[in-house]
Amino acid sequence: MKVEFYGHIRQYHNIKSEIDANIKEVLESGQYVMGPMLKRFEGELANYHGTKFAVGVGNGTDAIWLALLALGVGPGDEVITHPNTFFATAEAIWIAGATAVFVDCDSNTRCIDPAKIEAAITPKTKAIVPVHLYGQCADMKTIRKIADKYKLFVIEDNAQAIGGRGDGFKIAELSDATATSFIIQKNLGTFGDSGALVTNNEKIDATARKLRNHGSNQRNVHSFGFNSRLDDLHAGILSAKLKHIDAWNDLRRKWAAHYTAGLKGARNFSLPFERSGGQHVYHLYIIETKKAQQRDALLKFLNDSGIDAKTHYSIAIHQQAGYPWGKSARVSGSLANAEQNAATCISLPMFPELTEQEVDYVVAKTMEWDKSQ
Ligand SMILES: Cc1ncc(COP(=O)(O)O)c(C=O)c1O
Repeated sequence: MKVEFYGHIRQYHNIKSEIDANIKEVLESGQYVMGPMLKRFEGELANYHGTKFAVGVGNGTDAIWLALLALGVGPGDEVITHPNTFFATAEAIWIAGATAVFVDCDSNTRCIDPAKIEAAITPKTKAIVPVHLYGQCADMKTIRKIADKYKLFVIEDNAQAIGGRGDGFKIAELSDATATSFIIQKNLGTFGDSGALVTNNEKIDATARKLRNHGSNQRNVHSFGFNSRLDDLHAGILSAKLKHIDAWNDLRRKWAAHYTAGLKGARNFSLPFERSGGQHVYHLYIIETKKAQQRDALLKFLNDSGIDAKTHYSIAIHQQAGYPWGKSARVSGSLANAEQNAATCISLPMFPELTEQEVDYVVAKTMEWDKSQ
């Protein structure tokens, strides 16, 4: 049996008529960039998050640095994040010209550990970028309190948790801006690249809107800017898909529960930690081997069994070759939890369109390996 890691084609086939109708609507409109479909999707996205504004941009990385730029964060400023995230979180800080400051992650959730943030704050610190890693919200209430105490901005990296909820807070509620990626492999993914930022801050909205369009919101009138727009074809695809995101997240949670029930007796790896009171949307279902030297063996066993398991992310950012490439970066304290996460993580196939038979097969093979240890 083969179990793929993604279900892009299954998902397309399931809602083909809705996606095709939106694509046709854009093609027939003659307006493909900054057209009515983008406007419609931005409205739907803001509405979904309960924010006043949504700005569609070229990708999730741009959404982070455009938010930083819109807040005036740049050279000489420090931005705190954690190193066991997709590379783009730190890359965006560097693109903005700021210094990336890495603190450790929580030993359970693997999101940023708020207890490590205060020790990393200096007079240069301007912002915190927590990541809702794997689909689970970072501890935003504590992060917001620290940000208020030191007058810092907070930009949520929500590339992995659209539809997730915190314990008593919503994504985008406790930050200045929230950045999202719509690359195909995300919970809400288009057939290519794009991203967005959502915010309640009028100034961030207006500035990001200009910055993404060559510094212009009026024909022929420009200030310094970039080209980072979400085009209307992608907006149409995303508009069709957004209607299904809650149902898809429910299915992700269902398969996660199925994995957890089947794998809970394992002795050689741990299962994802779910904080109570919120909603983890399982963008990724991550297990961690008890010993680092077991990880590659289990990964190979699964791959050899036809299961497309992967790792997210097996090299922490500060451990990448050549780090920090002449860019400004600082490590604050021990990063032992992040390094352990990188050394032991395995992502099992996770997408809404999985079948019970596929999930059962993954469980059976993973347990077969566990028993062989
Ligand atoms: C946590 C995180 N941040 C940022 C990004 C960057 O998004 P994009 O690839 O759309 O630039 C991604 C995904 O790729 C991500 O997983």
